[in-house]
Amino acid sequence: MLHQCGFVAGCDGNISVRMGRNLVLGTPTAICKGMMEPGDLVLVDMEGRQNGGGRSPSSELGMHLLYYQSRPDIRAVVHAHPPTATGFAAAGIALEEPIVAEAVITFGSIPLAAYGTPVTSELSAELGPLMPNHDAILMANHGVVTCSHDLLSAYMKMEKVEHYARIVAVARQLGPLKPLNDEQVRKLMKARLSYEGNRIPVLPELE
Ligand code: 13P
Repeated sequence: MLHQCGFVAGCDGNISVRMGRNLVLGTPTAICKGMMEPGDLVLVDMEGRQNGGGRSPSSELGMHLLYYQSRPDIRAVVHAHPPTATGFAAAGIALEEPIVAEAVITFGSIPLAAYGTPVTSELSAELGPLMPNHDAILMANHGVVTCSHDLLSAYMKMEKVEHYARIVAVARQLGPLKPLNDEQVRKLMKARLSYEGNRIPVLPELE
């Protein structure tokens, strides 16, 4: 779906699911997400040591593991390069202004992590502080990462980030932006807590 929607090109992006306390299933490095077979997936432990699958893990596995370490409530992480949201990330513009009610309810806000070289601890250093409070983060000059309690939900958050970025791009062109006011945002943040679509199911204990 990431590939079909154009959120990744070539072998871009990576996906993982937390299967157990010390077990993560993920996409291997350098594979087209639109052409994978189940047997291509790899298993790793929470330290990133491989314990299943014949291919090498994603080069960005560290980012996925960091999300799992900081968020016991999540079970899936998706990283992609959707063009409009990545355009915002490349322009250094966060999606934090409250422009559309639905985005406030879904995300609160979507921050921008400063640039860190991919596949290094620099990237984790920039993303880490944002992970506890955000399910979607723009990565400057790189892409987007989302997480959720299951894989479909993490994917749909990616879809919603890109859709929202498109709306903001149009609004900026038509401009000036008319952000919601503090009182409107306060009400939406309250609604966010009870909205069914944000309900986190009780997840089975990790074994
Ligand atoms: P991997 O193929 O190593 O998962 O990396 C893809 C990518 O999108 C890097 O940003």
